[in-house]
Amino acid sequence: MSQDQLKQQVATVAVELVQAWLGPDDILGVGTGSTVNFFIDELEKQRVRLRGAFSSSDASTRALKEIGIEVLDSNSGERAVLYVDGADEVDTEGALIKGAGGAHTREKIVASLSESFICLVDESKVVERLGLGDFPLPVEVIPMAKALVEAQIAQLGGVPLEREGFRTDNGNLILDVEELDLSDPESVERRLNNIPGVVENGIFSGSRPSVTLVGHDCGVELRCTESIRQRHASKWNAIDVCCETLLN
Ligand code: 5RP
Repeated sequence: MSQDQLKQQVATVAVELVQAWLGPDDILGVGTGSTVNFFIDELEKQRVRLRGAFSSSDASTRALKEIGIEVLDSNSGERAVLYVDGADEVDTEGALIKGAGGAHTREKIVASLSESFICLVDESKVVERLGLGDFPLPVEVIPMAKALVEAQIAQLGGVPLEREGFRTDNGNLILDVEELDLSDPESVERRLNNIPGVVENGIFSGSRPSVTLVGHDCGVELRCTESIRQRHASKWNAIDVCCETLLN
């Protein structure tokens, strides 16, 4: 299967899961990227009915509106039941690198406004430890702080490179950072966010997914911790059925 077919496959299972998990009065959090685009297309095909969505980017907002899903104000004080998004790397403990699309700041906000996070990846994104994949770590930076942030990242051992010709939906720039030691993702996530001028970095160690769906040639693998499985016991029958359908 091509990478796009693997993404399509996990997106299809994710929509089954959304249908099992959410009712028409519930709010869905929606991430950004090509996997999420497959997911949004599938929401339309399966005619999923929702109260509305919190969106993590202008691109996802446009796509959601096109299929008739209302995009709600994230300051309303309400919470989404689920957040669905892709990732660039996921390690064996469920920590993520995100932000290849430069949307990780709003993605982390919507993930934090949601009760559970379902992450959709194809098998190429799975790594033993963050930093071992093909992706640098994106850091969103307020433009006037660029030189300061670059210098402080270099002190931490990282090599920052500005993403050329790119501005985030928040009007900021992205530094793609290589060579940083990410063996303690919680600590690096905190330290980077402590640098003045850093808006947010792409490590998701505090907002890990409750469930990760991994697309393989043979079907979709469901990864989650036992405590999450117990907490959502009433949902698992439907979810396991979704995965088994594709694995058979
Ligand atoms: C955007 C992201 C995306 O979720 C991540 O880059 C995965 O993208 P894709 O589904 O296109 O592989 O973090 O900021």
